[in-house]
Amino acid sequence: MPTLWWQRGAIYQIYPRSFADSDGDGVGDLRGIIDRLDYLVDLKISAIWLSPFYRSPMADFGYDVADHCDVDPIFGTLEDFDRLLAESHERGIKVVVDFVPNHTSSEHPWFVESRASRKNPKRAWYVWRDGRRPNLPPNDWLSSFAAVGRAWSFDNVTGQWYLHSFLPGQPDLDWDNPEVEAAMHDVLRFWCERGVDGFRIDVVHKIAKDPLLRDPLPDEPVTWENWEPTIHERLRRMRAVVDEYPERMLVGEVYLLDLERVLAYVNTGDELHLAHNFVFLHLPWDASAFRSTIDSFEALSSQSAWPAWFLANHDHARVASRFGAKQARAVLLMLYALRGTPFVFQGEELGLPDAEIPPDRVVDVDGRDPERAPIPWRPPSEDGAGAGFTTGRAWLPITPAAEELNAERQAHDPGSTLALARRLADLRMAEPTLQSGEQRSVEGGDDLLAWLRIGDDDRQLLAVVNFAEDERAFHCPPDLRRTARLEISTDPARNHGDFALDDLRLSAAEALIARL
Ligand code: GLC
Repeated sequence: MPTLWWQRGAIYQIYPRSFADSDGDGVGDLRGIIDRLDYLVDLKISAIWLSPFYRSPMADFGYDVADHCDVDPIFGTLEDFDRLLAESHERGIKVVVDFVPNHTSSEHPWFVESRASRKNPKRAWYVWRDGRRPNLPPNDWLSSFAAVGRAWSFDNVTGQWYLHSFLPGQPDLDWDNPEVEAAMHDVLRFWCERGVDGFRIDVVHKIAKDPLLRDPLPDEPVTWENWEPTIHERLRRMRAVVDEYPERMLVGEVYLLDLERVLAYVNTGDELHLAHNFVFLHLPWDASAFRSTIDSFEALSSQSAWPAWFLANHDHARVASRFGAKQARAVLLMLYALRGTPFVFQGEELGLPDAEIPPDRVVDVDGRDPERAPIPWRPPSEDGAGAGFTTGRAWLPITPAAEELNAERQAHDPGSTLALARRLADLRMAEPTLQSGEQRSVEGGDDLLAWLRIGDDDRQLLAVVNFAEDERAFHCPPDLRRTARLEISTDPARNHGDFALDDLRLSAAEALIARL
């Protein structure tokens, strides 16, 4: 089965502020990314997804967009972006950009106009309402950021409240207004015309809201059926816009902890191509939990739906910190060997842990600084405190693990996590069975997650992950072939070559791929 570009290899998430700083101001930028593209070539990634680099006051570090069609000076210029795009394409790397449709910055000219007076033509572009009573917001909705509290702020000039699902500096657009939808479609066209290959859609499940703005009441639950169909209609129209251009891809941040609802965004084939699955991200480190989520995803998928797997991004603690260093290696193997597109957040290929952020360096309102710490490219002992990320003072502290886990050191160590990530990518690129083969669950025993990938000419690859902290024997089911050849193990001590599946024992947190 031929694969599309977004199905073949991994999509690598770049958080531009923390990837590479080319001008010494301590914040990463587009030129820094260009300088590091060959590192991504060695990782054989299919595409980069860039978190926002648009003009922004940076209240939410770029997710508060003040101009969707320009680059913030801290990251460079539109010319830099065009060069990044051209240099990526030259290397066979596609470019996916973040699209933030639910809200803008309060400094976006649309909102500046909207808040100027109740009669302003842009008033109806945002969600303005009267309070229930003086000093009481229209309802009790809360911001997604706990520290913010309620999702409404009162505007003294016009005497009304506006909705912000995140910071007060991120007013929600009113997608019920067709002018808003048309303006956001123009943003998609702007970037498609420039040549981007796809969009990651920020909080896509929020682009329609209960039209009555009801609070959930215990005896009268507000159910999503009232407005989610509207989101799907809006997504179909977005898809139609990107389908005006060839081979563009939409991946959505569908932050719903309900697989059935998540799959509704990809199952019909005319909405998203991929959905980030947060049910998967929130799983405990437990083989049966992973088993049932993977199997339910497959069971609920339509024929055409394609899975996407990720366990880390710029909003969540890193895998090495959540589950452990060995487990972070096992996760990489899992992402590359499952049927679907792997998403790798920058630094996961290095097995980085979260950085420690002293109280006086905290900058994010929602506690997400540790996973956003800069990438250590070189040993601090050789390159100074900036670890090859910057010659200046990094905007967030560099992880203390930089000396051991920097990219340069790992590139020369065949046992490193980076070396493992490269071998996984090589295997996936060389082996169509990993890209597009069928997938079948295998019962291999307690604490083991195992699955087969079956390709053309009955080529078979077996993947096994040991979730236990100690050794586990693989109980080979009777219908499996008995001999195997090791392709990759996360345990550098494992011998290569042929072995009998009946004798297979996995070491603590080991994961492997074997050819049957
Ligand atoms: C998404 C982003 C997150 C941001 C929020 C508001 O969840 O991933 O970083 O803060 O949307 O845009």
